[in-house]
Amino acid sequence: MKIGIIGAGMIGSVLAKRLGELGHEVSIANSRGPASLAELAQATGARAVTAREAARAGEIVVVTIPESEIPQLPKDLFAGVPDEVVVIDTGNYYPQQRDGRIAGIESGLPESRWVEQQLGRPVVKAFNSIYANSLDQKGRPAGTPGRVALPVAGDGAAAKAKALALVEQLGFDAIDAGGLDESWRQQPGTPVYCKDFDAERVRHALTQASPARKPEWCATDKSPGSFGQPA
Ligand SMILES: NC(=O)c1ccc[n+]([C@@H]2O[C@H](COP(=O)([O-])OP(=O)(O)OC[C@H]3O[C@@H](n4cnc5c(N)ncnc54)[C@H](OP(=O)(O)O)[C@@H]3O)[C@@H](O)[C@H]2O)c1
Repeated sequence: MKIGIIGAGMIGSVLAKRLGELGHEVSIANSRGPASLAELAQATGARAVTAREAARAGEIVVVTIPESEIPQLPKDLFAGVPDEVVVIDTGNYYPQQRDGRIAGIESGLPESRWVEQQLGRPVVKAFNSIYANSLDQKGRPAGTPGRVALPVAGDGAAAKAKALALVEQLGFDAIDAGGLDESWRQQPGTPVYCKDFDAERVRHALTQASPARKPEWCATDKSPGSFGQPA
């Protein structure tokens, strides 16, 4: 399958590597342009492109950049991209460490609903709840006891099915976590977040989540600080 990736950091580069190993044709972009991606392209076999090209490069496009950078993407990023192309959002809101205040999320929108509004395009939320290192190392064949499971939330049945299938191909049990309005259940600070749980524990953790944002996941007047010194 042809897959575009926008963002070539920790998650984008792991996905490029792992998807390339599975035989997918990956096109990847960052903010600095294709020339800055020569080394990653060489290492993974991915094609280095612009963000606009990555948005037109596949059946699936993964957006994996910091939440605060989402509004910097071109407003017409997905103009003319066929509706059946699935957009996956891996993003998380880290107000105190990185992103600063995002009013829409602070006032209660699920993070991916806010991303969807910025992109002007439906998104499926996946891969947000696993650290890059686990995504790289912990994929296992289906049926392996204790196989790590990942929640996938989204509104379109066909789009979600494609995202669920991709999660399985990468070696994780794919759990349908409901529509995008339920996607707060897998956001930072929830019981499922970055725990590398198996399917049974993921399903249970999703039921234990609370929609209220905890104070440590809300912006303050000083946000953002840094990962070393959250503010
Ligand atoms: N790291 C993890 O373990 C992890 C796990 C799950 C989910 N996430 C979430 O996934 C998202 C990506 O995380 P990450 O850790 O991979 O980020 P990262 O390592 O900081 O990399 C960010 C990438 O986004 C690119 N980027 C920034 N602004 C852009 C723009 N306007 N256009 C195109 N590309 C742009 C950067 O390109 P340049 O370098 O050229 O600026 C860089 O390649 C975040 O929302 C994060 O919270 C991360």
